[in-house]
Amino acid sequence: MLTTRHLCFSYQDEAVLQDLTLDFSQHAVTGLLGANGCGKSTLLMNLTGILRPQQGAVLWQGEPLCYDKGSLRALRQRVATVFQDPEQQIFYTDIDSDIAFSLHNLGLDKPLIAQRVDRALTLVDAQGFRHKAIQHLSHGQKKRVAIAGALVMEAEYLLLDEPTAGLDPSGRQQMIAIIERIVAEGKRVIISSHDIDLIYSICDHLYVLSHGRLVSLGEPTQVFMQQEQLAAAGLVQPWLVKLHGELGLPLCKTEQQLFALLRQRNAEKM
Ligand SMILES: Nc1ncnc2c1ncn2[C@@H]1O[C@H](COP(=O)(O)OP(=O)(O)OP(=O)(O)O)[C@@H](O)[C@H]1O
Ligand SMILES: [Mg+2]
Repeated sequence: MLTTRHLCFSYQDEAVLQDLTLDFSQHAVTGLLGANGCGKSTLLMNLTGILRPQQGAVLWQGEPLCYDKGSLRALRQRVATVFQDPEQQIFYTDIDSDIAFSLHNLGLDKPLIAQRVDRALTLVDAQGFRHKAIQHLSHGQKKRVAIAGALVMEAEYLLLDEPTAGLDPSGRQQMIAIIERIVAEGKRVIISSHDIDLIYSICDHLYVLSHGRLVSLGEPTQVFMQQEQLAAAGLVQPWLVKLHGELGLPLCKTEQQLFALLRQRNAEKM
C-alpha cells in the first residue's frame, strides 16, 4: 500500500506540494494530472524518498517511510521509478549492463539476471535494438530502456513520469501498449502526465493537481466532465470527451471503441 497523508513539500522556501492525502493502492493505474510546474515530478520523488516532505508523510504498507539508506533501498525494490528524462537513469553504454546493474547490486545469480533482463527487454519491445550503444538510441528507445531498467526489479509499483513526453504518434501508441502489458502483469502503475488523452484512456483513477494542491479526484470520465475545474488547473478535456459534450457522440475511452460504435450505427442505418 502506497499512500500519502497531509503531505507538504517545499524547495527552499517555495511551497510546492500542499496537504496531499492520496491513495495509490486502490486502482491498477492512477494518474497524476496537472499543468507544467504543478508538482507532479516532485510528488513522485517524495513517494520513493528521493525528497522528504517537511510536513505530513508518505506511507508504505501503512507505515511512514524511514529515510535511512537501507530502508530506502528496500522501498525502491518495491516501488520503481522511471524518471521524466531517461538520461537521468542510464549509466552504462550497453543496454544489457545498464538494465542488469541494479540486479547485480542485489546479488542475484547470473542466469536469473539474464532471464529478468531478457523478459524486461521483450516487455518494452527493445529486443530489436538491444545490441546498440545507448548513446546511439533515439529518445523513445531510451525511454523504453529506462522502463526495462525499472521492470527488472519486479517491483509492485511502477511510477512513470511523463511516459509519452517527446514521443512521436507511433512511439506514443507503443508506450500505451507497453503500459497495458505492465498492468496486465498485475502491477500498480502511477502515471504523471499532462497528456490528457493518454491519462483519460489508460487510468482508472485520477488526482488533478494545481499549484501543488489537489483540485479534483475520481474516475476519469467524471473528472473530465468538470470543465471549470479543469480550466482552473490549466487543462482541457480529452478529445473523446469533447466529442461527447459538443456533438452528443457516445462517451468512449478509446478511439477504437468510438469508431467501432459509429461503424455499427452506420451499418444499422443502411
Ligand atoms: N530542484 C528544484 N529546486 C527548486 N525548485 C524546483 C526544483 N525542482 C522543481 N522546482 C519547482 O517546483 C515546482 C514543481 O516542479 P515539478 O517539476 O514537480 O513540476 P511538474 O508538475 O513535474 O512539471 P512538468 O509538467 O513540467 O514536468 C516548479 O515551480 C519548479 O520550478
Ligand atoms: Mg515533471
